[in-house]
Parts: sequence; structure tokens; C-alpha cells
Amino acid sequence: MDSIYTFGLLSCLLFQGVAGKVNVSALMTHLFANYHDDIRPVCDGNKPIEVRIGLALRQIIELNEPKQLLQINAWLRWSWEDCNLMWNASEFDSIDNLIVPVTKVWIPDITLYDNAGSTVEGVKDYRLSIGSSGSMAYNFPTVITSLCQVDVTYFPFDTQTCSLTFGSWAYHGLQLNITNRSVSGDLTSFVSNVEWDVKAINIVRHVIYYGCCPEPYPDVTFRIVLDRKPLFYLLNLMFPCMLITSVACLGFLLPPDSGEKVSLEITVLLSLAVFLLVVSETLPPSSESFPYIGVYFLCAMFLVSVSCLMTVVVLNLHYKGNHGKEIPKIVRHIFFDVLGKLVRVKTPQKSNASVSPSPTTPKIIEVQAFDFERKTNGLENVKQNRKKSDDTTMYENNKNSISTDSDSILNASEFIHILRKQLDSLSKIERFMRDHSKWEENVAEWQLLGQVVDRIFLIFFILISFITTITIFVQTSSN
Ligand SMILES: *[C@@H]1O[C@H](CO)[C@@H](O)[C@H](O)[C@H]1NC(C)=O
Ligand SMILES: *[C@@H]1O[C@H](CO)[C@@H](O)[C@H](O)[C@H]1NC(C)=O
Ligand SMILES: *[C@@H]1O[C@H](CO)[C@@H](O)[C@H](O)[C@H]1NC(C)=O
Ligand SMILES: *[C@@H]1O[C@H](CO)[C@@H](O)[C@H](O)[C@H]1NC(C)=O
Repeated sequence: MDSIYTFGLLSCLLFQGVAGKVNVSALMTHLFANYHDDIRPVCDGNKPIEVRIGLALRQIIELNEPKQLLQINAWLRWSWEDCNLMWNASEFDSIDNLIVPVTKVWIPDITLYDNAGSTVEGVKDYRLSIGSSGSMAYNFPTVITSLCQVDVTYFPFDTQTCSLTFGSWAYHGLQLNITNRSVSGDLTSFVSNVEWDVKAINIVRHVIYYGCCPEPYPDVTFRIVLDRKPLFYLLNLMFPCMLITSVACLGFLLPPDSGEKVSLEITVLLSLAVFLLVVSETLPPSSESFPYIGVYFLCAMFLVSVSCLMTVVVLNLHYKGNHGKEIPKIVRHIFFDVLGKLVRVKTPQKSNASVSPSPTTPKIIEVQAFDFERKTNGLENVKQNRKKSDDTTMYENNKNSISTDSDSILNASEFIHILRKQLDSLSKIERFMRDHSKWEENVAEWQLLGQVVDRIFLIFFILISFITTITIFVQTSSN
């Protein structure tokens, strides 16, 4: 200090020609000769120093939702009066403003309360301006990393409010009175952000009494209101999710014989799980407020899981007919006559007629069989009668003739026997055919039941997913 002082005096004396410069040095020496930069300037008895602070937002670097950190590039503006740094401008070549490194003078120890970085960055790196009346103005750029409670309930239609609270750490309100210099934060030089719109920066001043001390501790809080631009998340999360969920609908339309019904649902389920992972990576691991989009994804996953179950039920119904089990009458009535018409699946109109075996053909065959039986029985009777008479009278004489006669009778009975056998097998074939067609009909009916149930499930699925989607959209965007 002394060396500077003597140097200033010397130059003052020797180089009067460059007097402007000399005058500044003189001013400096005048000002800082007895100045202590670590003592709060006290002039007016007990009056506190009024520190007015302001904030101009330049950029939002990041709002990290999982870590709940806001990082911004801001310009801080502090101003106060330092009565030890006043001078008469007319005495110093009408110099009424001086710019000095900030380390030369006392500055208020303004601290960011919810700081996530080290200190207010750059607070000691810049220069401040001193007015001749002792008014100090320190404007400096800084990067602020602050904790910010992120509420993602309405993600991606959410609005976040991040509070930056500034206050003096060491001085209480009777020593240093911190106030806001304007009604709101400065947004004129804001560089727009791709993800966030800044709606406003509101300022609130609090006076807090802490447990330690009776003195008031004032602080100034800047509330940065951020509006998320939802398009990115709509395009990358919501719409794909909707598309995938609607693909799950196709599972109900797929014919069961393709064998792909269940695997389609499972694939949809897996891809939804991947999307849920992406979402949960973007959001804070908070249990306080679960975002509606998470609910939406969970609903979608639940729906797809249920649709998987439904598909299995449908497949079960579809193949149930193969075991020859018949559809219970009440089920047939409910699903074919009531629900089938409701969901517009073509059900058999003459279902009753086709199910009970048609009475004409088997009866005819039975009648014919009965006739045959009767006729053959008649022949048998004749044969036996003949045999009896032959036995008594002319057994010996007509041996040959009888033998030939009985041969022919035997031939006839054999023929009848064969005929009967053929008839038997014919009726067996006929019965088999009847059984088979009945079986086929049964299988077809079960398949039809599966189709009806599938259609009902499809309608339910579409309805429920539509309602969920609309509800959640309205809920999130209404905020
Ligand atoms: C300041 O400089 C002016 C010339 O520019 C000179 O007349 C004046 O005496 C100087 N004042 C001091 C205090 O050196
Ligand atoms: C400033 O200096 C001028 C000239 O020396 C003097 O007339 C004036 O009263 C001074 N002003 C104050 C506020 O001291
Ligand atoms: C601090 O400043 C506020 C607003 O400017 C004022 O209302 C209050 O009285 C001041 N407090 C003290 C102790 O001067
Ligand atoms: C400080 O903020 C309050 C509340 O926003 C406002 O009423 C007041 O006018 C502000 N002070 C100044 C000097 O703008």
C-alpha cells in the first residue's frame, strides 16, 4: 500500500501531463488508504446496510429430475451503499465512477441457501463499480446449482417451481437488510431452452426468526416458474405407448389357429416394460407423487396382461370342442342368442334344429332294419317247419331233394346273415358319420364361442383403454 501511495505521489508530481490517470490513482489512494475490506461499513449508528439483490436469468442448463437439481446460468445483481467509499467528484476531475476488483472492497456474504454446488460461483472473480456517493453495484455472471423439488405428477404437462433463496449467512437483519431490487426477475436476456419455457420469476421476501437468535433473518427468494414443453415426451413416450397398446387389440382379432395370439400379447407386454423403464429413468424416484404417465403405463401393462389372460381363455374355449364336451345350454343361450347378436358375431340361426339329430334318416333305416329282421325271421320259421315235417314223414326218400332244399335254404340264411352284417356295418358307418358331424359341429360351436368371447374382450379392451387414456390425458393436461 505504501509503495503504491508513494508511487502515486511521485507520478503526481512528475507527470502532470497524464493527469487523468494520476487523478484515478490519487482517488484510489484516497479511498483505500484506511479501508478495511473485511469490516462491514457502519456509518449511521444502528442502521443496517440495505442490500438489494436481483437476478437475471440467462440460460437454463438443466433440470435434472431424478436428482432434483436445477442448474442455471444467471446474472446476479447486488447493490448497497458503502459510506467509506465516497468522494467528491469535483475534487477528483469529476470522476464519479470507479471500477475495482471485488476483492478490494467489502461485499455482503450473500449465500444461496439450497445450494448444491460449492458457493456462489465466481463471486470473487469480477469487478464492481463504485459510485462517488458510495453506491456499490456488483453484477456478475454465475452458474447456480440448486436443489429443486420436482413434482412430476403431471409429467409431461407439468409446471415446476424452483426456489432460489438468497440471504446473508453471518449478518442478521439488523446489520444487513436484504431486499429485492425489483418486483420480478429479469428475463429480457433469456436464451430460450429446448425443454423448458420460463413463465415468470417471482420474488418473495421472507423474514425468519431462527431458534438460535432473537434477531430477524431476512431472505429473498426467487421463484422460477418453468413450464415443460411436452411435445418431445408426447412423441417419444405417449404415442408409442398408445400404439403399442392398440397393437394389443390385434391380439383379439388374430385367429386362434395361427398360434400367435399369446406371443403377440407377450411381445406387447415386454415392449411396454421397456417404455416403463425409460419413463422411470426420466423421473425422480419419489414415492410421494406418482406421475400420471406412470399410472398410464401401469394401466397399459395391466390391460395387456389381462388381455393375455383373456387370450388364453379364448384359446381354451377354442380347443375345448376337441374333447367332445358340449356347450351348456345356458352358456349357449347367453353367448349365442344374447351377446353374440350384441357384438355382431354370426351365430347359427337354426342352432336348435341342427344340434338335435335329424329324425328322418335313422328312423327309415331302423324301419327297414326291422322289416328285414321280420322277413328273415319268417324264412327261418318256414325252414324249421319244413325240417319238422321232413323229420316225421319222408326223411329218407327225399333226402337228396331235402338236402338240396336245405342247401338253398342255408344259402339264403347265409345271404341274409351277410346282408344283416352289411346292414350292421352300414348303420355303424352311418352312426359314425353322424357322430363325426356332430363332433365337428360341436368343435365349430366351441370355436364360435371362443370367437364371441374374443369379440367381447376386444370391445371391453378398447373401451377400457380408451377411457384410461382419455382420463389420464384430461387429468394431466388439466393441471
Ligand atoms: C486532476 O487533473 C487535472 C488535469 O486534468 C488537474 O488540473 C488537477 O489538479 C488534478 N487533480 C489532482 C487532485 O491531482
Ligand atoms: C465538493 O468539492 C467542491 C470543490 O472543492 C465544493 O465546492 C463542494 O462543496 C464539495 N461537495 C461536497 C459535498 O463536499
Ligand atoms: C428492511 O427492508 C425492508 C424493505 O425495504 C423494510 O420494510 C424494513 O423495515 C427493513 N428493515 C430494517 C431493520 O431496516
Ligand atoms: C419486492 O418484492 C415484493 C413482492 O414481490 C414487491 O411487492 C416489492 O415491490 C418488491 N420491491 C421492489 C423494490 O421492487
